[in-house]
Amino acid sequence: MKATNITWHEGKVTKEDRRNLNNHQSFVLWFTGLSGAGKSTLSVAVEQELYKRGIRTYRLDGDNIRHGLNKNLGFSPEDRKENIRRIGEVSKLMVEAGVVTLSAFISPYREDRNMVRELVEDNEFIEIYVKCGLDVCEQRDPKGLYKKARAGEIKGFTGIDAPYEAPENPDIIVETDQQSLEECVENVLLYLEEKQLIP
Ligand code: PPS
Repeated sequence: MKATNITWHEGKVTKEDRRNLNNHQSFVLWFTGLSGAGKSTLSVAVEQELYKRGIRTYRLDGDNIRHGLNKNLGFSPEDRKENIRRIGEVSKLMVEAGVVTLSAFISPYREDRNMVRELVEDNEFIEIYVKCGLDVCEQRDPKGLYKKARAGEIKGFTGIDAPYEAPENPDIIVETDQQSLEECVENVLLYLEEKQLIP
């Protein structure tokens, strides 16, 4: 049921004030890609580099968020949509707080990713396509989930019997089956420098 009789209450300290205090911009780095493509690995490494440069960050990650905030959600298209909607709202709050937010979710549906892009302002959403062939993801199979999916023990697994809609116009593409982790990190940092999002 939708809440009624609610009013937005404006504070006296703005997003800009918080950014000025931090001495940097705030935005969302949205990592999308197949399971095993390297979203978490890359977001962890990018966060480390940003931290070294004195940038305030926070990382939101599929498996972790599904242990808490989204523990009541599964992997149906509706649940994935709600998963991404909530993460989008949390990411937006983080950006309001002046923090660079690294959100790493399969987020297989274009429409759901675009919904998050719409939630925040222009230049606050950077879509990073963590590209990797399904064959390589399946070979890596770090959690043994592809094996289970192939055996029919997991239904609706992304890339096997559930879709992954690749971004049509991502801000950044990294190819983890062709580039080293260091190269992928460098790609992301160069983009942020060029856009003057980080010093
Ligand atoms: S989504 O599609 O964005 O809502 O998924 P996300 O929240 O990123 O969660 C993905 C992780 O959940 C595990 N897992 C599955 N993934 C895809 N399909 C199915 N059916 C599934 N069941 C469990 C899997 O470990 C994913 O982790 P990553 O890090 O992507 O490998």
